[in-house]
Amino acid sequence: MLETHHSQHETEDAISSRWESYRRANTESPGARENELSEIFKLLNPQHGEKVWEYGTGNRYLTFPLAQAVGSIGEVISTDVNEGNTEEVKGKAAERSLPIKTILLAQENPFLPPEYQDYFDAVTSIATLHHLDNRDQQTGMTGRLEGLKKFYASLKRGGRLVIADPVYGTATQRYFDSIDDPEYCYPTGHPHDFPTQDEILTLITKAGFTPQSLEVKTVPWRFPDIEAAKKFVHTIHHARAGADQSLVMAEKILGLTKVGDHYELGWQLFFLKAVRDY
Ligand SMILES: C[S@@+](CC[C@H](N)C(=O)[O-])C[C@H]1O[C@@H](n2cnc3c(N)ncnc32)[C@H](O)[C@@H]1O
Repeated sequence: MLETHHSQHETEDAISSRWESYRRANTESPGARENELSEIFKLLNPQHGEKVWEYGTGNRYLTFPLAQAVGSIGEVISTDVNEGNTEEVKGKAAERSLPIKTILLAQENPFLPPEYQDYFDAVTSIATLHHLDNRDQQTGMTGRLEGLKKFYASLKRGGRLVIADPVYGTATQRYFDSIDDPEYCYPTGHPHDFPTQDEILTLITKAGFTPQSLEVKTVPWRFPDIEAAKKFVHTIHHARAGADQSLVMAEKILGLTKVGDHYELGWQLFFLKAVRDY
């Protein structure tokens, strides 16, 4: 009994360290994921004074630009299940007087309370929706459907949802499947299945939304040199394997190309825009 408790505690610590590495990778390579950011911004088009729910704070790379866009009369509520993420971003937002409120959600019920129903102009999220389901626990798409229903309920009528996440049949899906191994993504591997485009549209519609656009886009991760790419892929997934091995895996599956003065890894995500019509 004691032993089980102890090892669960160790796993929780290791998961916190994983997200600490995730934040560090993003913070040390601030330009790496600019392509994802600009695609989200094009679709979301956040306006001055709007209230936006960001689902999955991470290191804040979307949170701060959102706050700048909505300005001091707007509000960004950024939620996460990892306290390291919400606390670090809370501190940095306060230093800059940005209109951001971070909220730590419980892993068992990772959603905002009922007072946030019909509250937001927009809900947005990058690379987080898939975390609502777990292949090892065979949850299928049920966690994602529940999440999408919560997003729907939290929006005002006419409010919009903009999500980017991996989709089945892309290099990103194959890459994540290849790192579903604690050696490459410590401590739990990456036990998440990804939906097809048809499945995404089915989920969105079941949650009540009217889909407006769904596109799979190549949004390469950009690095000034190969060393920076290696460090990023090794750190972001908290790999135990050597950094060289992490790069070999990423290069083999995502492709590493020199483009002008920089290097790119071929990251691909779906970008969805949907609206709450009723
Ligand atoms: C890949 S990161 C994305 C973070 C940020 N949006 C970004 O793009 O950098 C996934 C996020 O999902 C959060 N997460 C992990 N498990 C989760 C769960 N069961 N429910 C909700 N969020 C979860 C993590 O804490 C992390 O911030």
